[in-house]
Amino acid sequence: MRILGIETSCDETSAAIIEENSGNSKVKLSSNVIASSLPLHAKTGGVVPEVAARAQIKYIIPVIEKALNKTDIDAIAVTVGPGLIGSLLVGVETAKALAFAWNKPVIPVNHLFGHIYANFIDHEINFPFIGLIVSGGHTDLLLFKSHKNYKWLGGTRDDAAGEALDKIGRILGLAYPGGPEIEKRALMGNPRAFNFPRPMIGSEYFDFSFSGLKTAVLRETQKIKTLDDEKINNICASVQQAIISVLVKKTIRAAKIYKVPTIVLGGGVSANQALREKFEQEIKKIDSKIFFPEKKFTSDNAAMIAATAFFQYKEVPLSKITANPELYFD
Ligand code: KG4
Ligand code: ZN
Repeated sequence: MRILGIETSCDETSAAIIEENSGNSKVKLSSNVIASSLPLHAKTGGVVPEVAARAQIKYIIPVIEKALNKTDIDAIAVTVGPGLIGSLLVGVETAKALAFAWNKPVIPVNHLFGHIYANFIDHEINFPFIGLIVSGGHTDLLLFKSHKNYKWLGGTRDDAAGEALDKIGRILGLAYPGGPEIEKRALMGNPRAFNFPRPMIGSEYFDFSFSGLKTAVLRETQKIKTLDDEKINNICASVQQAIISVLVKKTIRAAKIYKVPTIVLGGGVSANQALREKFEQEIKKIDSKIFFPEKKFTSDNAAMIAATAFFQYKEVPLSKITANPELYFD
């Protein structure tokens, strides 16, 4: 089984080929090509949907051609949501057109599962596990009992962790996206300099809320006369620490309550080294295991979409496949 994956949910245009593996992992990656329109959005301090969609149209065929490199495939996996409608449509309609021309099945994929399945590329993970998705648009906790049996435990009520980092980055005048910039500056700052709120950290539910944190940063910056590098670094370190505390505490609590020995992270924010280290440190106390995707698979890519399709394989008639920007969990 060889699957061509296509991912166009936001500002990355990606195509990849995942193959069944006879070795110690079930799937292996044979190609992964990514073109990003991120530099265009850095200028505007955020993704402009129209600009992202136009870039998708420009890149989609060259990216697929390069990933395929004349290889035969058995099926096409495509992200159908969530994401920006203009961007999603490019991938979905291209996948359907190719499937029609080549007479191959299409497997529609939820992008959010993709972030978890980034961990299954070249690796094997045993069920059950707690999955934490921390991307630009989502913060979700799930209990995975098998590839097709999962339970959504909670998600953000307002801003996602990545979104909060990006908005705080903008408040501080940092380059877009804010997450990696805040990580860099946090290394030079004092995480105890500001006592930012840790929203819902003690709540019995698995929901998150990060918009209050953003407002707290805004208020703090308004109080400061000159926002010099030292102050910015201290805010970055303190904000990052607040977000990490909430993510780690709630995820570990879910693992304890559901008596699950494994935690799996995914999404752009899971690239954060301080987050990884805090998880590693806390996981030792409960004798559990933690998995992160390889850093190159934390941001949007088609390899994770093809891997999801391999494990959650379900052919759907072309007429039933549509882009769904609001797609979430059942
Ligand atoms: O998963 P992703 O690439 O796109 C979505 O599906 O949303 O996530 C992008 C998010 C952005 O908010 C970005 O600031 C954040 O991931 N991010 C990071 C880091 N790298 C990317 N956040 C914290 N630390 C990082 N190193
Ligand atoms: Zn994503």
